[in-house]
Amino acid sequence: MPDTLATDEAPITSEIGLDPEDWEELRRLGHRMLDDAFAYLENVRERPVWQPVPEAVKRELALPLPLDPTSPDAVYEDFKRQVLPYPTGNIHPRFWGWVMGTGTPLAMLADMLASAMNPHVAGYDQSAAVVETQVLSWLAEMLGFPATVGGVLTSSGTVANLIGLAVARNSLAGFDVRADGVQPRADRRPELIVYTSTETHSWVQKAVELMGLGHRSLRRVRVDARFRMDLAALARAIADDRARGARPLCVVATAGTVNTGAVDDLPAIAALCREQALWFHVDGAFGSLAALSARHRDLVRGQELADSIAFDLHKWLYMPFEAGCVLVRDRAAHQRVFALTPSYLSPHGRGIAAAPLEFAASGLDLSRGFKALKLWFSIRAYGSKKLGAVIAQNIDQARYLEALIESEPQLELLAPGELNVVCFRFNPGGRDGVWLDRINEEVLLRLQETGEAVPSGTRIRDSFVLRVAITNHRSRREDFCFLVERVLHHAAAATI
Ligand SMILES: Cc1ncc(COP(=O)(O)O)c(C=O)c1O
Repeated sequence: MPDTLATDEAPITSEIGLDPEDWEELRRLGHRMLDDAFAYLENVRERPVWQPVPEAVKRELALPLPLDPTSPDAVYEDFKRQVLPYPTGNIHPRFWGWVMGTGTPLAMLADMLASAMNPHVAGYDQSAAVVETQVLSWLAEMLGFPATVGGVLTSSGTVANLIGLAVARNSLAGFDVRADGVQPRADRRPELIVYTSTETHSWVQKAVELMGLGHRSLRRVRVDARFRMDLAALARAIADDRARGARPLCVVATAGTVNTGAVDDLPAIAALCREQALWFHVDGAFGSLAALSARHRDLVRGQELADSIAFDLHKWLYMPFEAGCVLVRDRAAHQRVFALTPSYLSPHGRGIAAAPLEFAASGLDLSRGFKALKLWFSIRAYGSKKLGAVIAQNIDQARYLEALIESEPQLELLAPGELNVVCFRFNPGGRDGVWLDRINEEVLLRLQETGEAVPSGTRIRDSFVLRVAITNHRSRREDFCFLVERVLHHAAAATI
């Protein structure tokens, strides 16, 4: 045992707990925290988007294991100084890096109430399970699925996608994956193949590796000029695999690719999957939610045909982390993958464990928190129309930014815009690719390090680009004007 742990332990003379001795004192601190949190969010625009954690603060944070109590007030003072000023920045109006949601003050409050109730949401006869069921049926309706689908809230899009793919594998493998696994066996089972495009997010590789399929069984189909899966190439890959005795399992399409926001031809892929008896999975991590906007719904038309779909509420529904979701059309197939009922989890027909544990049977987690509450509050308080209007605003902002870029001769767009992602770079002409990559990466880092704005970087057709993914309800048009002005400023300064 480490010698930093206590070696003495006073005999307990009266029993102890972790509730405050003085509730009034904690109540005062709690109210102060809440007021400070509101001010923090209300004034977010006044602060830099991001600043690094200073080395001195990192040293202060590296505390030895505390053995004795510190007053909550003192811990809170340290939090305000050492922790609060140094977030990733995604709550700021000018944060558009990777794909991160902004969060809302209302959902923050709902998270606090969820913690106060602290229910265990594996299922059980309790309000939290009823609320999660209700939220799942609203989410299904938003995306055009029938209320009969199976589903579960997850920690992330990665996990939601993994669950969808696991259901695909177990449903169509042609053998009992739960009993036999996917180990090579003497009876030489066919290799199971998953198809997706070269633009699909890296979760898909993690998933096939974790599911024991190995990434050699992942076919990365090339994309067309709009970064959508090339369907002729997909059909050829499936035919080739069948011809050599492998078993095509599933096509993973994307509604909103991470690099450019491209949407695969979902109706055509659905038709191909039907014809070929393949599972149709859609990764709609952020793009799926475009269905909430009446004006933009058509962009993701066809996602409602999926056998399973994964999406994140902590991206384009602006929820605080974490909240992902997977929906599976065949609820029984979904639960066949995860349901397991040892005696200590058996239902009794009555009481708290009246029925089998619905959510534990829909994913990996047994212990689960009350993520559904922030969604229940938000969907009720804003209404799906307002949420759709903010999503539409983000798409309009992306087109606005593209227009600004097109009006600047030294900037160029590198990908066609569909949803809410804009990829561009500084290109004054007459410079080679190496120079352009270097200057654009430098511009990106200067934007981030000055705390002015946070795009992220990626490579499009082998060129480094600045990538702006707008899942931010706080951004306004002037923020994009400012971005363009600062890009030109930093590019000029870095060129000298
Ligand atoms: C298209 C797409 N799929 C999957 C993911 C992974 O989602 P998560 O980060 O919630 O695991 C992302 C993340 O940005 C994404 O953009």
